[in-house]
Amino acid sequence: MTDLLEVRDLTVHFDTEAGLVEAVDGVTFNVRSGEILGVVGESGSGKSVTALALLRLIRPPGRIVQGAVRFEGTDLVGLSEDEMRAVRGTRIAMVFQSPRTALNPVLTVGRQISRLFELHQGASRAEGRTRTIGMLKLVGISEPERRARQYAHQLSGGMCQRVMIAMALATSPRLLLADEPTTGLDVSIAAQILELLRDLGRRTGASILLITHDLGVVAEVCDRVAVMHAGQIVEVGAVRAIFARPLHPYTQALVRSIPRIDRDVTMEPIPGMVPSLLAPPPGCRYADRCPRVLDVCRRDRPAPRAAAPDQEVACHAAEVEDAPARG
Ligand SMILES: Nc1ncnc2c1ncn2[C@@H]1O[C@H](COP(=O)(O)OP(=O)(O)O)[C@@H](O)[C@H]1O
Ligand SMILES: [Mg+2]
Repeated sequence: MTDLLEVRDLTVHFDTEAGLVEAVDGVTFNVRSGEILGVVGESGSGKSVTALALLRLIRPPGRIVQGAVRFEGTDLVGLSEDEMRAVRGTRIAMVFQSPRTALNPVLTVGRQISRLFELHQGASRAEGRTRTIGMLKLVGISEPERRARQYAHQLSGGMCQRVMIAMALATSPRLLLADEPTTGLDVSIAAQILELLRDLGRRTGASILLITHDLGVVAEVCDRVAVMHAGQIVEVGAVRAIFARPLHPYTQALVRSIPRIDRDVTMEPIPGMVPSLLAPPPGCRYADRCPRVLDVCRRDRPAPRAAAPDQEVACHAAEVEDAPARG
């Protein structure tokens, strides 16, 4: 069976005055039907640029240099802008960080959702209103009739994020891109929003690409995870497999950096910084931070290797048993 989204060798550069920023470099991953795939990595690792590239929202001086983004069998990179507009916001929807600023300040939240039903599904104004109330209920907003008449500034951050999720779901997308949807929210509210996303994924059958800098979030809600470092995916696989046996030294460092109350060791920060993406050196981009660096790491970029039935790692030093390479 083909996957809902197949991203192959996606590469995005920004041609800046300081030089070429190689923000996303040869990124390859799939999103399966109905799954939640986490994309995790430190700030600056290329997660948001990847999400924007999937929707072809990279603006100059940035551009997609190469790669394919096959969604429901069609390569989005080859579509015209008009064709792309038809996909964006309907088949693929996006939920951003800071929902309050993403909402229109001069329209009631109800009207913002209702317009989507009218625009994309030909609903009458009355139908739009009814379906908006239903959608607000679905995303767990109490007193939906009253809330629908309010403006973004009258709602809490958590409630604004629920409204954004309602807007994203109004067009029944097959794929939801959620970029740090809980960053900036209070911990307990964040947990509720994640629970909501997971529940909605199950109920609607939509796949979710959940971007986060927090591996704890991945452990909570994702089925699989792609670990990004400096514009590249270094490890990808089932969340259970990767937590049980992280193979890339960067993934291992991320796992050790999760604060845990059931363990008396303190969390360890990851040494070093995300390297500059301005003309990065050849070889592995983690080499300068890596405790297990080999000579070959500075010379050759490590290719992804199958390590387990649902785990792949791109590292020269990782101990990978002789698993059959994926065809
Ligand atoms: N408009 C831009 N111009 C130049 N560089 C950019 C631009 N947008 C993003 N980048 C670079 O791309 C890299 C990845 O950024 P981003 O995807 O936002 O990281 P993340 O979302 O993982 O924190 C960063 O090094 C950033 O400096
Ligand atoms: Mg980001």
